[in-house]
Amino acid sequence: MMGRAADRLPTPPTGPTRPGETGMTSEGSTMSQLDMFSLEGRVALVPGGGGAIGSAMAAAMAGAGAKVTVVDVTQERADAAAELVSAAGSEGLALSADVTQEAECDRIVAATVERFGRLDIIFNAVGGGAGKVLFDAQDYPRDSWDWIMELNVRSTLLATQASVRQMIAQGHGGRVVNISSVRASLGINAGYSAYVAAKGAISSLTRQWATEWAKHGITVNAIAPTFVDTPQVAMLLDDPQFKASIVSRIPLGRVGGTHDLAGPVLFFASDASAFVTGQILGVDGGLTATQ
Ligand SMILES: NC(=O)c1ccc[n+]([C@@H]2O[C@H](COP(=O)([O-])OP(=O)(O)OC[C@H]3O[C@@H](n4cnc5c(N)ncnc54)[C@H](O)[C@@H]3O)[C@@H](O)[C@H]2O)c1
Repeated sequence: MMGRAADRLPTPPTGPTRPGETGMTSEGSTMSQLDMFSLEGRVALVPGGGGAIGSAMAAAMAGAGAKVTVVDVTQERADAAAELVSAAGSEGLALSADVTQEAECDRIVAATVERFGRLDIIFNAVGGGAGKVLFDAQDYPRDSWDWIMELNVRSTLLATQASVRQMIAQGHGGRVVNISSVRASLGINAGYSAYVAAKGAISSLTRQWATEWAKHGITVNAIAPTFVDTPQVAMLLDDPQFKASIVSRIPLGRVGGTHDLAGPVLFFASDASAFVTGQILGVDGGLTATQ
């Protein structure tokens, strides 16, 4: 477990106090090691929880024991994701909100605390949009630029600020998990100017927040996926030539699925990553390793 933060987060009921405290010599002790990944007793907030990645990660965290508030622009999307949380064996709260609005972010945090009594984890899943606004860099239109920045950066900024104010007030640490992208570090000859800038900002904020909020026992990390097979990128991946060009550069020979993100997200959300903060983890089949 991490020093201050993990000491202050609620300890999973059957978990070890420190990783390595129990051996790996029997089935029972192996289970104790796995308890590092347990989210029993934790409460997570997932803005964008009605989306492809958000809903899958809400369900994954629920499966690990967390109670989860899922937030999306429509109540319908949030309700559908909350059903996945219930199906995973936990309790969900479905809220509609626009997390590019500060007051809305305060409202969803307050509603989470009212319902579940605390907030320990935020997984920021609002974002994307790149495939809808592809323009040559020299002509990239300002309105599309602003939209991508608002969708990706402002949403993450405001939802995280509201959540972290609550975590600091609670005084027992917390976890912030962001979604960056391989595009934060790799250019692509396909009109992605605003998106690469937005994801670069998410990666930079991840490191900045990790530095500032360590004193509160709050860790901040991000996953940086390559293409994940979701409706947002379906139009791009439906083009066989484009998909082949992407896959040919990925050593593991395929694009990702939402299931590929669950392990990394549970790692960052749980005590297993107690001494890890400010990190951007490529979840990319080895793509960035080749650059
Ligand atoms: N799909 C990929 O290939 C891929 C790859 C790398 C990174 N990512 C990133 O993962 C994240 C999620 O992607 P996805 O494919 O699940 O997208 P998605 O569109 O399925 O999910 C995003 C969700 O956010 C919601 N949302 C949008 N604006 C909102 C707002 N203001 N307030 C509340 N909710 C709002 C949408 O309604 C949607 O349900 C994005 O940041 C994206 O950039 C995706």
